[in-house]
Amino acid sequence: MTPTGYLNGDWAAPEALRISPLDRGFLFADGVYEVICAFDGAPFALAPHLERLQRSLDGIELANPLTAPAWTALLEEAIARSGGGDLSIYLQVTRGVQPRRDHAPPAAPVPTVFLLTGALPATPAQVLTEGLAAITRPDPRWARCDIKSIALLPNVLLRGAASAANASECLLLRDGQLTEGAASNVFVVREGKVLTPPADAHILHGVTRDELITLARRSGIDVGEQPLTQAMLEGAEEIWVTSTTRGVLPVTRLDGQAIGTGVPGRLWHRLHGLWQAHIDDFRRQVAAGKPR
Ligand code: PDD
Repeated sequence: MTPTGYLNGDWAAPEALRISPLDRGFLFADGVYEVICAFDGAPFALAPHLERLQRSLDGIELANPLTAPAWTALLEEAIARSGGGDLSIYLQVTRGVQPRRDHAPPAAPVPTVFLLTGALPATPAQVLTEGLAAITRPDPRWARCDIKSIALLPNVLLRGAASAANASECLLLRDGQLTEGAASNVFVVREGKVLTPPADAHILHGVTRDELITLARRSGIDVGEQPLTQAMLEGAEEIWVTSTTRGVLPVTRLDGQAIGTGVPGRLWHRLHGLWQAHIDDFRRQVAAGKPR
């Protein structure tokens, strides 16, 4: 695939695009973003991603610069320019450029629209057989984590802490309760039951989380959305993390201790199978030219 960038009407190689240092995204992280996958050249779960983008824009009181059909056309052009196939698309909307640095938002902002495509990293086979390592940390973030804000400094530092501990993800605890991962949502299996923290303002309402819950319930697997304590996390039979680019992956080591039997669990195998089948279904619909 060819990484492709788009900025306010211009298409170019991503590194060739230039933003103004007076862009409020650069100065204040005053913007929101989405990450969407394309499979076989078609954007996956596009409607829920565009709905969440709208909720994020509403949350920062910024008018959506594009309609849903215009976003769809832009994403499809980005995919086509990248050569189609499987890829990830990052899109970002900021409150635009202001003549001077001023915290107060302008009355009539002209949003900056930025888009970037990239290769979709394949999950290493070892992750599927052995699982991931994760660490826990107190959740230091603000009280509106449901907004997919580009202000990701806490997430960056937490992922750095995970890397330093040879782990892939950092699971966060706010006042002793599990919220989410630094870049993922979290599921826990306890006494054979699948549980996940409720979709409140302390977590991002993950598109993968929602789709996985729907798939599980459709197959007769109950998913409880409820507060989870650190003790419930540490004593879990299974832990999984979900995100757009990683799907659903098992966590088998937490803070250096084995989770459950120390290998990916029975329910993860089942849900991972359902997730793969869901993507295969989508590919079949794309091949058949069906509206999705
Ligand atoms: N992140 N929680 C956080 C904090 C995230 O950053 C993400 C995804 C998720 C999972 O959401 P979804 O299933 O909609 O991808 C949960 C993206 C992939 C990123 O920042 O790259």
